[in-house]
Amino acid sequence: GIDNITLNNGVQIPQLGLGVFQTPSGEVTVEAVREALKTGYRHIDTAMIYHNEESVGEGIRQSGVAREEIFVTTKLWNDDVRAGRAKEAFEESLKRLGLDYVDLYLIHWPADGWEKAWEQLQELAKEKRVRAIGVSNFQQHHLERLLSMSDVVPAADQIESSPQFANQELIDFAHSKGIAIEAWSPLGGTGGNLLSDPRLAPIAEHHGKSAAQVVIRWHLQRGVIVLPKSTHAERIRQNFDVADFTLDDQEMAAINAIDTGKRNGADPDNFNF
Ligand code: A2P
Repeated sequence: GIDNITLNNGVQIPQLGLGVFQTPSGEVTVEAVREALKTGYRHIDTAMIYHNEESVGEGIRQSGVAREEIFVTTKLWNDDVRAGRAKEAFEESLKRLGLDYVDLYLIHWPADGWEKAWEQLQELAKEKRVRAIGVSNFQQHHLERLLSMSDVVPAADQIESSPQFANQELIDFAHSKGIAIEAWSPLGGTGGNLLSDPRLAPIAEHHGKSAAQVVIRWHLQRGVIVLPKSTHAERIRQNFDVADFTLDDQEMAAINAIDTGKRNGADPDNFNF
């Protein structure tokens, strides 16, 4: 099966979760979440700005899987960071999800005011409304500033990472501080061309797996929490079926060589949303 990683506060997080960015609210999300949980996923990653928290909650309820067995992450949106309303925004997310706690609450981007939001998230953790708190899209300099002003080390930093943009230096830095890394766009994102990269095909063929499964396996073996997104039940199942093969050092190196050093997504040092 899929292993857990122990976060720096002792909380366990399943290393593979379903991402629901760009998964439309309503039946598509309900079904994706329900299918994932029926397949064995125990980790769902959403955000206020994905506008599908209600459907995530509905999918969880429809799955019949007990709430405490599922690791649920959501994120504080930038407008709420800037407005200093982290606690209110958190309650709104809980209400949409129909849950009475979340497992991990993240500051979605290092928007102006994130320092105050970090204080507010610490209060939520003290009040036991969340089991762990962290950040997303924080660069090394953001993490350094956070660590210099706070005794609480973020449990996780969720960042863009895929074979095309491995982001390895940031991963190494975070890991050296006890901060777990979660990868978004782990398969290269919507509309990307990673999965048809000819360097993945022979590795996939050798293991009798798909390129997506090989990429997910690469993330797992480098100690990263991986959040593949799919709205197709068959792919959701396929993406979870990655525990029965191992990439050797040569294969890992071949996948590392795909890195362009160029991100597909927004730049955390220069975003305008
Ligand atoms: P879809 O949702 O239509 O299945 P990322 O996780 O990097 O954001 O990438 C998700 C993209 O990869 C989506 O476009 C998703 O499309 C597609 N995808 C997810 N799983 C697979 C898979 N097993 N095989 C091929 N494409 C996949």
